[in-house]
Amino acid sequence: MTERTSQPVPLIAGNWKMNGLRADGIALATEIARRARQAGRPGLGSDIVLCPPATLLAAIGLAIADSPIELGAQDCHHQANGAHTGDLSAAMLADLCCRYGIVGHSERRASHGETDTIVKSKAAAAQSAGLIAIICLGETEAERQEGATLRVIERQYRQSLPSGAGAENTVIAYEPVWAIGTGRVPSSAEIAEVHGHLRQIAAATMADAERLRLLYGGSVKANNVGELLAIANVDGALVGGASIVAEEFWAIVQCRAP
Ligand code: PGA
Repeated sequence: MTERTSQPVPLIAGNWKMNGLRADGIALATEIARRARQAGRPGLGSDIVLCPPATLLAAIGLAIADSPIELGAQDCHHQANGAHTGDLSAAMLADLCCRYGIVGHSERRASHGETDTIVKSKAAAAQSAGLIAIICLGETEAERQEGATLRVIERQYRQSLPSGAGAENTVIAYEPVWAIGTGRVPSSAEIAEVHGHLRQIAAATMADAERLRLLYGGSVKANNVGELLAIANVDGALVGGASIVAEEFWAIVQCRAP
């Protein structure tokens, strides 16, 4: 693919996973929002989204009000409403002022049996409720060792993206399963290969592929984010463990500040 002529503002997303009770979660979001208000929009250099557990969405929404920080959910059901005990619809999340919704995280694929087909229907539900779907994909360690990485990524991309997906309603997060929470990160060349491949597939499937944000996720920390964001076709980061410590997350955000 030729040089990109227009690049989107990077996106730094914090996925808190199943962490945080009210007091800690509100304190964390309040501190990040305070710093973000001080920095202001162009000063931040990136879009920033916090994805707390669903129990904290309303409270965190209040804590980040009038700041450049946006709210995201970690999952949603694929239907708009109905008899689905314990589930949350995308419309409910949008109603709580979420702008983003993560779908297809490998932890949900592994522990809730979510297939590409389910992920696709969740992404479609998120998009039709007006959310930007952050669709996660990534190979396991065994798949990488077999040399199947690009094949797996391509299959997940083709089968997890709804037909109406474009840069305005979709973000892709490449998260190698073996890099999540392990402190291990692929080499820059390995990430560049996957992201380059994703960009090529996107170019064949959507008109605004140049502007589609392709995040990297998996053991992103303050001390490696600079190198990661410098890789071609990496437009931001999905951050897990390091997003629940204010100093560490802020240092990650600062990496793109002008
Ligand atoms: P990690 O998690 O940053 O703790 O590796 C990333 C993720 O699961 O999104």
